[in-house]
Amino acid sequence: MLKDYLTDKPILETDRLIIRVLNENDVPDLKEWLGRDEIYTYWGRKASKGEKNPELLFIDARPWVKRKPSPDFDWGIVLKETNKVIGMIAVFDIQNSRMGDIGYRIHPEYWNMGITTEALKEVVKFVFEKTEMERLNGRADVRNIASNKVLERCGFIKEGTIRHGKMVSVYCDYNIYGMLRGDYVSLQGTYSQVDPDRSYQ
Ligand SMILES: CC(C)(COP(=O)(O)OP(=O)(O)OC[C@H]1O[C@@H](n2cnc3c(N)ncnc32)[C@H](O)[C@@H]1OP(=O)(O)O)[C@@H](O)C(=O)NCCC(=O)NCCS
Repeated sequence: MLKDYLTDKPILETDRLIIRVLNENDVPDLKEWLGRDEIYTYWGRKASKGEKNPELLFIDARPWVKRKPSPDFDWGIVLKETNKVIGMIAVFDIQNSRMGDIGYRIHPEYWNMGITTEALKEVVKFVFEKTEMERLNGRADVRNIASNKVLERCGFIKEGTIRHGKMVSVYCDYNIYGMLRGDYVSLQGTYSQVDPDRSYQ
Protein backbone atom coordinates (compact mmCIF):
# COMPACT_ATOMS: atom_id res chain seq x y z
CA MET A 1 0.00 0.00 0.00
CA LEU A 2 1.19 3.52 -0.74
CA LYS A 3 0.67 4.57 2.86
CA ASP A 4 3.31 2.03 3.92
CA TYR A 5 5.86 4.03 1.91
CA LEU A 6 4.99 7.55 3.04
CA THR A 7 8.07 8.02 5.18
CA ASP A 8 10.24 5.03 4.20
CA LYS A 9 10.76 4.76 0.49
CA PRO A 10 11.91 1.33 -0.68
CA ILE A 11 15.26 0.40 -2.21
CA LEU A 12 14.89 -1.44 -5.52
CA GLU A 13 17.53 -3.55 -7.18
CA THR A 14 18.19 -4.81 -10.71
CA ASP A 15 21.15 -6.64 -12.28
CA ARG A 16 23.21 -3.47 -12.70
CA LEU A 17 21.42 -0.92 -10.53
CA ILE A 18 20.34 0.12 -7.05
CA ILE A 19 17.39 2.49 -7.04
CA ARG A 20 17.24 4.46 -3.79
CA VAL A 21 16.48 7.83 -2.26
CA LEU A 22 19.38 10.27 -2.61
CA ASN A 23 21.10 12.07 0.26
CA GLU A 24 23.80 14.73 0.87
CA ASN A 25 26.56 12.17 0.36
CA ASP A 26 25.51 11.87 -3.29
CA VAL A 27 26.25 15.54 -4.07
CA PRO A 28 29.72 14.90 -5.62
CA ASP A 29 28.25 12.34 -8.04
CA LEU A 30 25.35 14.63 -8.94
CA LYS A 31 27.74 17.54 -9.53
CA GLU A 32 29.32 15.57 -12.37
CA TRP A 33 26.20 15.58 -14.53
CA LEU A 34 22.97 17.03 -13.10
CA GLY A 35 23.86 20.57 -14.23
CA ARG A 36 24.52 19.65 -17.87
CA ASP A 37 22.19 21.57 -20.16
CA GLU A 38 21.81 18.76 -22.75
CA ILE A 39 19.71 16.84 -20.22
CA TYR A 40 17.04 19.53 -20.40
CA THR A 41 16.79 19.96 -24.20
CA TYR A 42 13.24 18.60 -24.27
CA TRP A 43 12.24 20.25 -21.02
CA GLY A 44 12.53 23.64 -22.75
CA ARG A 45 14.97 25.09 -20.27
CA LYS A 46 18.55 25.06 -19.07
CA ALA A 47 19.73 23.41 -15.87
CA SER A 48 18.34 25.19 -12.80
CA LYS A 49 20.39 26.69 -9.98
CA GLY A 50 19.68 23.64 -7.82
CA GLU A 51 20.68 21.26 -10.60
CA LYS A 52 23.95 23.13 -11.12
CA ASN A 53 24.56 23.20 -7.37
CA PRO A 54 23.02 19.94 -6.15
CA GLU A 55 23.96 20.63 -2.53
CA LEU A 56 21.03 23.10 -2.60
CA LEU A 57 18.63 20.24 -3.28
CA PHE A 58 19.24 18.90 0.22
CA ILE A 59 18.74 22.17 2.08
CA ASP A 60 15.25 22.90 3.38
CA ALA A 61 14.85 26.63 2.67
CA ARG A 62 11.83 26.89 4.99
CA PRO A 63 12.43 24.42 7.82
CA TRP A 64 9.67 25.99 9.91
CA VAL A 65 6.99 24.86 7.41
CA LYS A 66 5.34 21.61 8.50
CA ARG A 67 4.97 19.38 5.45
CA LYS A 68 2.92 16.26 5.08
CA PRO A 69 4.94 13.31 3.81
CA SER A 70 4.50 12.98 0.06
CA PRO A 71 3.30 9.75 -1.54
CA ASP A 72 5.62 10.45 -4.50
CA PHE A 73 8.80 8.46 -5.11
CA ASP A 74 12.01 10.31 -6.01
CA TRP A 75 14.85 7.90 -6.44
CA GLY A 76 18.45 8.06 -7.58
CA ILE A 77 19.85 5.38 -9.88
CA VAL A 78 23.17 3.97 -8.66
CA LEU A 79 25.42 1.88 -10.90
CA LYS A 80 26.45 -1.11 -8.76
CA GLU A 81 29.76 -1.53 -10.55
CA THR A 82 31.07 1.88 -9.47
CA ASN A 83 28.61 2.78 -6.69
CA LYS A 84 28.01 6.13 -8.46
CA VAL A 85 24.71 7.94 -8.87
CA ILE A 86 24.14 8.14 -12.63
CA GLY A 87 20.48 8.99 -12.86
CA MET A 88 17.16 9.81 -11.28
CA ILE A 89 13.74 8.26 -11.69
CA ALA A 90 10.47 9.33 -10.13
CA VAL A 91 6.82 8.49 -9.75
CA PHE A 92 5.34 11.90 -9.10
CA ASP A 93 2.05 13.76 -8.95
CA ILE A 94 0.37 10.70 -7.45
CA GLN A 95 -3.34 11.38 -7.28
CA ASN A 96 -5.81 9.63 -4.96
CA SER A 97 -3.35 6.72 -4.60
CA ARG A 98 -4.50 5.77 -8.07
CA MET A 99 -2.50 7.43 -10.80
CA GLY A 100 0.99 8.91 -11.11
CA ASP A 101 3.47 10.19 -13.68
CA ILE A 102 6.86 8.72 -14.53
CA GLY A 103 9.97 10.90 -14.97
CA TYR A 104 13.65 10.13 -15.49
CA ARG A 105 17.00 11.62 -16.42
CA ILE A 106 20.40 10.01 -16.83
CA HIS A 107 24.03 11.16 -16.83
CA PRO A 108 24.70 11.75 -20.57
CA GLU A 109 27.81 9.56 -20.51
CA TYR A 110 25.54 6.61 -19.73
CA TRP A 111 22.88 7.20 -22.40
CA ASN A 112 21.89 4.35 -24.72
CA MET A 113 23.13 1.60 -22.44
CA GLY A 114 19.65 0.44 -21.43
CA ILE A 115 19.94 1.97 -17.94
CA THR A 116 16.57 3.74 -17.96
CA THR A 117 14.77 0.75 -19.46
CA GLU A 118 16.20 -1.47 -16.71
CA ALA A 119 15.29 1.02 -13.97
CA LEU A 120 11.79 1.78 -15.27
CA LYS A 121 10.86 -1.89 -15.53
CA GLU A 122 11.74 -2.34 -11.86
CA VAL A 123 9.78 0.76 -10.88
CA VAL A 124 6.71 -0.42 -12.82
CA LYS A 125 6.99 -3.83 -11.15
CA PHE A 126 7.16 -2.17 -7.73
CA VAL A 127 4.17 0.10 -8.43
CA PHE A 128 1.85 -2.66 -9.57
CA GLU A 129 3.04 -5.36 -7.18
CA LYS A 130 3.45 -3.34 -3.98
CA THR A 131 0.98 -0.46 -4.24
CA GLU A 132 -2.67 -0.06 -5.12
CA MET A 133 -2.01 2.31 -8.02
CA GLU A 134 -4.00 1.59 -11.15
CA ARG A 135 -2.30 3.73 -13.78
CA LEU A 136 1.10 5.15 -14.68
CA ASN A 137 1.39 8.03 -17.16
CA GLY A 138 4.42 8.66 -19.35
CA ARG A 139 4.95 11.65 -21.61
CA ALA A 140 7.67 12.23 -24.17
CA ASP A 141 8.33 15.00 -26.68
CA VAL A 142 7.85 13.43 -30.12
CA ARG A 143 11.47 14.39 -30.94
CA ASN A 144 12.84 12.64 -27.86
CA ILE A 145 13.44 9.28 -29.52
CA ALA A 146 15.22 7.75 -26.51
CA SER A 147 12.42 8.57 -24.09
CA ASN A 148 9.68 7.29 -26.43
CA LYS A 149 11.68 4.11 -26.92
CA VAL A 150 12.12 3.56 -23.19
CA LEU A 151 8.38 3.84 -22.54
CA GLU A 152 7.46 1.56 -25.43
CA ARG A 153 10.04 -1.03 -24.47
CA CYS A 154 8.71 -1.08 -20.92
CA GLY A 155 5.24 -1.92 -22.23
CA PHE A 156 3.58 1.50 -21.98
CA ILE A 157 0.79 1.95 -24.52
CA LYS A 158 0.89 5.04 -26.71
CA GLU A 159 -2.52 6.65 -26.37
CA GLY A 160 -2.09 9.69 -28.57
CA THR A 161 -0.17 12.82 -29.38
CA ILE A 162 -0.88 16.16 -27.76
CA ARG A 163 -0.25 18.95 -30.25
CA HIS A 164 1.52 22.04 -28.92
CA GLY A 165 0.77 21.06 -25.34
CA LYS A 166 2.77 22.17 -22.31
CA MET A 167 5.33 19.69 -21.06
CA VAL A 168 7.60 20.83 -18.19
CA SER A 169 8.51 24.37 -19.39
CA VAL A 170 7.85 24.12 -23.10
CA TYR A 171 4.99 23.89 -25.55
CA CYS A 172 5.63 21.01 -27.92
CA ASP A 173 4.04 18.00 -29.57
CA TYR A 174 4.29 15.16 -27.10
CA ASN A 175 3.17 11.55 -26.98
CA ILE A 176 1.14 10.40 -24.06
CA TYR A 177 1.55 6.85 -22.80
CA GLY A 178 -0.19 4.84 -20.14
CA MET A 179 0.23 1.57 -18.35
CA LEU A 180 -2.70 0.15 -16.44
CA ARG A 181 -2.49 -2.50 -13.75
CA GLY A 182 -4.28 -4.82 -16.21
CA ASP A 183 -1.62 -4.17 -18.87
CA TYR A 184 1.08 -5.11 -16.40
CA VAL A 185 -0.77 -8.22 -15.27
CA SER A 186 -1.17 -9.35 -18.87
CA LEU A 187 2.60 -9.02 -19.34
CA GLN A 188 3.51 -10.95 -16.23
CA GLY A 189 6.07 -13.64 -16.71
CA THR A 190 7.23 -11.98 -19.91
CA TYR A 191 7.80 -8.52 -18.50
CA SER A 192 11.57 -8.62 -18.75
CA GLN A 193 11.25 -9.25 -22.52
CA VAL A 194 8.52 -6.72 -23.38
CA ASP A 195 8.16 -6.22 -27.12
CA PRO A 196 8.81 -2.58 -28.09
CA ASP A 197 6.48 -2.89 -31.10
CA ARG A 198 3.53 -3.62 -28.86
CA SER A 199 2.46 0.01 -28.51
CA TYR A 200 -0.40 1.29 -30.68
CA GLN A 201 0.58 3.71 -33.43
C1 LIG B 1 15.60 9.79 -22.13
C2 LIG B 1 16.74 9.16 -21.35
C3 LIG B 1 16.37 9.09 -19.88
C4 LIG B 1 16.94 7.73 -21.90
O1 LIG B 1 17.89 7.07 -21.09
P1 LIG B 1 18.78 5.86 -21.57
O2 LIG B 1 19.30 5.20 -20.35
O3 LIG B 1 19.73 6.33 -22.58
O4 LIG B 1 17.68 4.92 -22.26
P2 LIG B 1 17.88 3.42 -22.79
O5 LIG B 1 19.32 3.19 -23.12
O6 LIG B 1 17.23 2.49 -21.82
O7 LIG B 1 17.01 3.42 -24.11
C5 LIG B 1 17.20 4.39 -25.11
C6 LIG B 1 16.99 3.77 -26.47
O8 LIG B 1 16.81 4.81 -27.45
C7 LIG B 1 17.70 4.57 -28.52
N1 LIG B 1 18.02 5.86 -29.13
C8 LIG B 1 18.51 6.96 -28.54
N2 LIG B 1 18.66 7.94 -29.45
C9 LIG B 1 18.23 7.43 -30.62
C10 LIG B 1 18.14 7.96 -31.93
N3 LIG B 1 18.49 9.21 -32.20
N4 LIG B 1 17.63 7.16 -32.90
C11 LIG B 1 17.26 5.89 -32.66
N5 LIG B 1 17.32 5.33 -31.41
C12 LIG B 1 17.82 6.10 -30.43
C13 LIG B 1 18.88 3.91 -27.90
O9 LIG B 1 19.67 3.26 -28.85
C14 LIG B 1 18.18 2.95 -26.94
O10 LIG B 1 17.65 1.85 -27.62
P3 LIG B 1 18.42 0.44 -27.74
O11 LIG B 1 18.69 -0.01 -26.33
O12 LIG B 1 17.47 -0.42 -28.46
O13 LIG B 1 19.69 0.70 -28.46
C15 LIG B 1 18.06 9.95 -21.51
O14 LIG B 1 18.30 10.16 -22.88
C16 LIG B 1 18.01 11.28 -20.79
O15 LIG B 1 18.34 11.39 -19.62
N6 LIG B 1 17.60 12.33 -21.51
C17 LIG B 1 17.48 13.66 -20.94
C18 LIG B 1 16.30 13.76 -19.98
C19 LIG B 1 14.98 13.37 -20.66
O16 LIG B 1 14.75 13.67 -21.82
N7 LIG B 1 14.12 12.70 -19.87
C20 LIG B 1 12.84 12.24 -20.36
C21 LIG B 1 11.87 13.34 -20.32
S1 LIG B 1 10.28 12.75 -20.90
